[in-house]
Parts: sequence; structure tokens; C-alpha cells
Amino acid sequence: MCGIVGYIGDKQAQEVLLEGLSRLEYRGYDSAGIATIENGVIRVEKKKGRLKNLEDFLAKEPLAGNVGIGHTRWATHGVPSDVNAHPHCSLNNEIAVVHNGIIENYMALKEELIGLGHQFISDTDTEVIAHLLNELYTGDIVETIQMALKRLRGSYALGVLCANEPDKIIAVRKDSPLIVGLGQGENFIASDIPAILKYTKNVYLLENGEMAILTKNDIKILNAKGETVNKEVFVVDWDPGDAEKGGYDHFMMKEMMEQPKAMNDAITGRCSGNSVLFSGLHLDSEMMKHINRIQIVACGTAYHAGMVGKYYFEKFARVSVEIEAASEYRYKNPIVDKNTLLIVISQSGETADTLAAIRLAKDKGAWVLAVTNVVGSSIAREAQDVIYTNAGPEIAVASTKAYVTQVGCMLLLASYLGQLNGKLGENDAARLCHGLSITSGLIETVLDNQDKIKKFADANHEIYDLFYLGRGLDYCTCLEGSLKLKEISYIHSEAYAAGELKHGPIALIDEGTIVVAVCTQEHVFEKMLSNIKEVKARGAYVLAIVQQAHEEIASEVDEVWTIPNMDDDITPIPTVVYLQLLAYYLAVARDCDVDKPKNLAKSVTVE
Ligand code: F6R
Repeated sequence: MCGIVGYIGDKQAQEVLLEGLSRLEYRGYDSAGIATIENGVIRVEKKKGRLKNLEDFLAKEPLAGNVGIGHTRWATHGVPSDVNAHPHCSLNNEIAVVHNGIIENYMALKEELIGLGHQFISDTDTEVIAHLLNELYTGDIVETIQMALKRLRGSYALGVLCANEPDKIIAVRKDSPLIVGLGQGENFIASDIPAILKYTKNVYLLENGEMAILTKNDIKILNAKGETVNKEVFVVDWDPGDAEKGGYDHFMMKEMMEQPKAMNDAITGRCSGNSVLFSGLHLDSEMMKHINRIQIVACGTAYHAGMVGKYYFEKFARVSVEIEAASEYRYKNPIVDKNTLLIVISQSGETADTLAAIRLAKDKGAWVLAVTNVVGSSIAREAQDVIYTNAGPEIAVASTKAYVTQVGCMLLLASYLGQLNGKLGENDAARLCHGLSITSGLIETVLDNQDKIKKFADANHEIYDLFYLGRGLDYCTCLEGSLKLKEISYIHSEAYAAGELKHGPIALIDEGTIVVAVCTQEHVFEKMLSNIKEVKARGAYVLAIVQQAHEEIASEVDEVWTIPNMDDDITPIPTVVYLQLLAYYLAVARDCDVDKPKNLAKSVTVE
């Protein structure tokens, strides 16, 4: 949610900033802007809309200078417009600021600053920071920022330029992500690793309250008390190519195609014969004896992975599990104590609500285990135990490879907990390990079916409604399929537990309504068949997804897509790939911007 980048060195800053912003656009794309310093003067250009608008403008009228900051915005305060775009400046451009987060007390500060004669031009909360810095400026921008921070409430990752001190960039964070990149004779700041991966793999991961003072040849880190901190350099093990489209039309397609490898990477080293191993995890059988409550908390797609996890934990570790959306959990005074295990799931590791849930549960004494994709992310650092999903960088806003690896990790973790508390028998452990070991091949068989899926999408792209029905694990898959469709194709869709249909939603089924019936679970297959007959009787067009053994369903439905025969507990992984591809091809047929759906951003770092 909003991307920040900054550069100081010998290159033209504009070039590095635009390159960085192009890697961060997934965090927001309402507007973009950069500021550079040339001969002690800060110059700013910002444009509403996609980064391309800014690039086109700067191609004709470039900003010179070897130091600069840039921003790509996901609007919170103020509509997307040139004026509301970042960087924001104080009068006469003495100070320029880029910001990710929300300043909660900006109204009060704005009134105070207006009273002191400051004139505001935007509707944003960020503009108050530039004016406040200008008001407090002592001749030392570091000291000034330290004073200003005491007045700010809310979350922020900030990049600051000061015209009087043109040889530095200041970066500081609280509850919004920010990293510092170390180069040779050049240094960087960014919201996320892909923005600077082309230039360096050596980074500092700033902690809450830390400030970085960057010059061309030096980086100084201060903690919230202003003391110098010696930080460890974190070496990123992603390749620059991981953050490129690699010949695909969209990142989403590239990432769906990467799912077989991602699954392998998620499992490798964690399944050995009949047992699951998580090296480095503190959670052990002794700790498990004291755990009497497990809660799963996550948002969006990660929440759906959590739903699958609940099913697995209850089945294989025989423990009852509560699952809650992080945005609900944090405001409901949840029952949490030192005997609670909180499992959070987050691709980015930066989702504000999920992070808040961790802090709340930790304060009440819970043990927090995070399942995340981003090494060194805030969630990874604040949890007491971490399982990395190892999916590699996910750039498309719609999560795909992260989801399948989250589901894979849920199954691994459920088996692990079942081993720890003795509830998982050896046969089941061996069966699950085997099932997981073949998932990448199973995903490949679904990926090989793209012609069929595309044909279906091309023929049906004008629909305005689509229903997904399933039971048990299939219901979780339906929820995820429905979310994917909504977010990238803008087609309204609903996912229902098929047994719930008669309790209201069936009223929505009409002649020709498309119903995707996911029926991969043997123990409820016949129940699904009855539900299919009910919607068929009301005129629905039914597309069924089944294991090959149930191909005979063809006589009952309009179209069948099959997955190979497999263990029922493994089906959520290959099945969801059908639904991802369906959403993708419908979105493409409708000419939607697949990687950057409207109103969305990948990393939701504000609540
Ligand atoms: C949908 C999607 C979102 C995220 C959600 C949580 O495709 O990606 O629903 O799953 O915003 O994000 P993370 O997993 O980064 O916490």
C-alpha cells in the first residue's frame, strides 16, 4: 500500500527512482511522483494515474540530480490527483516528503500549522509532515525529524529530502515497511526488496522507530532514542529475474506457472519419509502440552488458506481451532492467554491488521507462529516462530503461488502438530507426506488445461454473476476462487457451502446462471450431486470440477473439468489452480488490467 523509493549516488536519480517505482507499482497505482535535488534546489513532478503518465512526462522534461525520492500511491486521504500525489513539500520546496501509512492526528496538526501561517494545497495527511518539518527546522534535518516524530500519531515509512542539506536522504519507519539498500558509492531506500534488487542484494531491515541517514558513501542508523545502531546486513537470496515478467503477458500468469516449483520449495526439507520436520521452530511437544486454544488470523486470500488450515488442524491434530479475519480479531477483545497458539498467515508479512493481531495476542501472553513469504518482514520479525512459504517474490496483486504454498504449509503444520501431540498416526503422516510430494505434478496437469479454460472464459466473459458451490475443503477453495474472480475480472460472484443454498441463495439462481460446483471430496460427493440437481432444476449452467474417477458426472452437468485421482486432503492445491486460471482468462477476455486491478494494492499496510 503505497511504495517508497529513494536514491543517492552518482547516477541520475530519476532513472533509478522510475525503475524502483515500476517494481513497486503493485503497492498502489493511483498516482506517482518523484523529487530530486539539483544544485540545492528540490524539484518535484507528480502525475495522477499510472506510473506511465509520469514516465511520459519526465521523458520530455527530465528532473536532473543524483539524489531523490519517489512514491507510488494508493489513496487514503484525498482523491487520486496530481496535487494529492507524493512527494509533498513545504512552502518553496525546502523539504520534500514521501510517506506510506496514515497520520491519524493530521487534522489537529494541520489546523495548528495553518494558524502559524502555513498554506496547504492537498487533502492528504502527508502534507502536514512537510509543513511540520519546515516549521520545526533547526538547521539540522535529523534533529528536526526527531522532534517532528514526537508530534505524529499513526503509521509511517518516510523518505525526506531537505534542500539545505542536499547530500543526504533521511528515512524513518513506524508500523510501515522500509528497507535500506547498500551499494558501492550509492545507497537506496525502498518499501520492498524488488524496488532495488537490480542494484543491490545487501539491505538493512529497519525496525520500528529506527532512522537511516543516507549519504552517497555512508549509512548511519539511529534508534528511537537517537543512539547509533550497528545493524546486520541482510543478504537477499532472490534473483533480479524473479521480479520480472519473464516473457509472460502478466505477472499473475508467470506466478501461476511458477506454482509447481513454489510447492516444491515449500515442501523441500520439511517432509522426510513418515514425518514432518520444521528446523528452527521453538514450538515443541512440551509447549504443545500447554496449548489449549489455537487461533488462526489472516486477511483475504491468506484467510482462505487459514480456513483450509483449520480443517487440517482439526482433522490431523484433533484440536479445535478458531479462525478470524485480522480486522475483526483486533477489535473484539479476543479470549487469549499464555496457553494460546496464534497462527498468522501473510504473504507480504506487512499487513497492518495481521500485525496488530500479533501484538495484541503477544501482549496477552500467546505464542505467535507466522506463516509468511517474505523473509525479514515485520510479521516474520514480530512472531516468535516463523515458517516461510518459500514461494519467491509475488508481484501480481492477485495472490496465487503464495496461496498454494500457504495451503501446503498448513498441511505440513497440521501434520507436525499431530506428531507433537501424538494424534497423527504414522500411516496418515506417510500418506500426507506422499500427497504433498506429488502436488507440483498435480498442479502441472491443471496448468496443461489452459486451452479449455480460455475457451470457456471467451464464451462467457459477458456474464455479470457467477456462483461457486462446494462442501468442506471444496468450500474453502470456492471462497478463494470467488475472491480471485471478483478482484481481477470485476464479475460479481458468491461462494457458498453447498448445503446452505436452500437457506436463501438459491433464489438467485436463474436460467443460464453459471454455477461452478467443486466436488472433489468423496464423502460429500453425493450431497454435491443433489445440490447440482437443485440448481440445474432452476436453469443453472453447471461446470463441475471432479477427480477423474467421477468423470461420469458429465451426464448431470453442462461441463466437467477433472483433476487426477488423489488423496482428498490434497485436492485444494490443484483445484484452486483451475479457479485462478478461470478468473485470469475471464479478466483477460474482459480487457481488465490483470496485475493491477482497480482500487486494490498488494500490501495492505494501513488498516
Ligand atoms: C487477494 C490478495 C489479498 C491478500 C490480503 C492479505 O488475491 O492477495 O486478499 O491475501 O491482502 O495479504 P497478506 O497475505 O500479504 O497479509
